[in-house]
Amino acid sequence: MTADRADGTSADPSQAPGEPRGVPRHVACVMDGNGRWAARRSLPRTSGHRAAETTVIDVIEAARTAGVEWLSLYAFSTENWQRPSSEVDFLMRLVRRVVRKHAALLHARGIRCRFLGVADPRIPVPLARDFADLMTLTSTNRGMTLTVAFDHGGRGDIVEAARSLIRSGVPADAVDERRFAAHLPFPDTPDVDLVIRTSGEQRISNFMLWQVAYAEWIFPQVLWPDFRAPHFLECLHAYRQRDRRFGGVTPYTNGEPHP
Ligand code: IPE
Ligand code: IPE
Ligand code: MG
Repeated sequence: MTADRADGTSADPSQAPGEPRGVPRHVACVMDGNGRWAARRSLPRTSGHRAAETTVIDVIEAARTAGVEWLSLYAFSTENWQRPSSEVDFLMRLVRRVVRKHAALLHARGIRCRFLGVADPRIPVPLARDFADLMTLTSTNRGMTLTVAFDHGGRGDIVEAARSLIRSGVPADAVDERRFAAHLPFPDTPDVDLVIRTSGEQRISNFMLWQVAYAEWIFPQVLWPDFRAPHFLECLHAYRQRDRRFGGVTPYTNGEPHP
């Protein structure tokens, strides 16, 4: 059985799309545990967010050099607006500083950067402008695509896609998964193969709900600010041992050619 993916490739295990060496094509990280990292050091939660910057850069480089084609990082959820305004303000300032500081390096590495989010008016205008500038600067890069999910919610994306689909006037009977997915933001994004959620929490927290439908999940105990390239490579190794069936009966072990 062949399941069509949103990007038009096939999820038929025998074709092992984009995984010639068992490297997941699309890795997504729920960067969790910053607050607990800080609490364990009797520091304010903001210190944990600040410490997360090193991990972000390490993971981007580890993914790129491992041959991951798509890396998505969950940086701020639509639910995170509920946090104290001092923490939200800090995150807005921190993300802007990180984007500006690393823009040239990301571009030099050939990384195409995207920001996936609803663009709430509460996002400071200078930050929104820096996001747009980095997307424009790197839009023709052909290296890894880095998607930063910021002000993102998976359910919200699906509702928006439904609105867009209805507006387009497609008759109900003509709606299928491929047509629907074409109305999601960045519809060329392939399905997620591997989700890594640090800090031991085991939940989705409204992350890329459509795209993770058949992802493998790994939940390292390590907190995000302590997560480094070797942890990331361990996750890739664990992924290679996993069997994927996509609802069929023939297991496909990542990294091994299918008979
Ligand atoms: C993840 O770390 C970062 C964001 C959600 C922005 P947390 O801030 O959720 O850290 P914990 O879960 O409280 O430890
Ligand atoms: C998910 O982490 C969002 C990000 C990592 C940006 P949270 O820490 O906000 O999720 P919950 O509240 O534990 O589900
Ligand atoms: Mg958390």
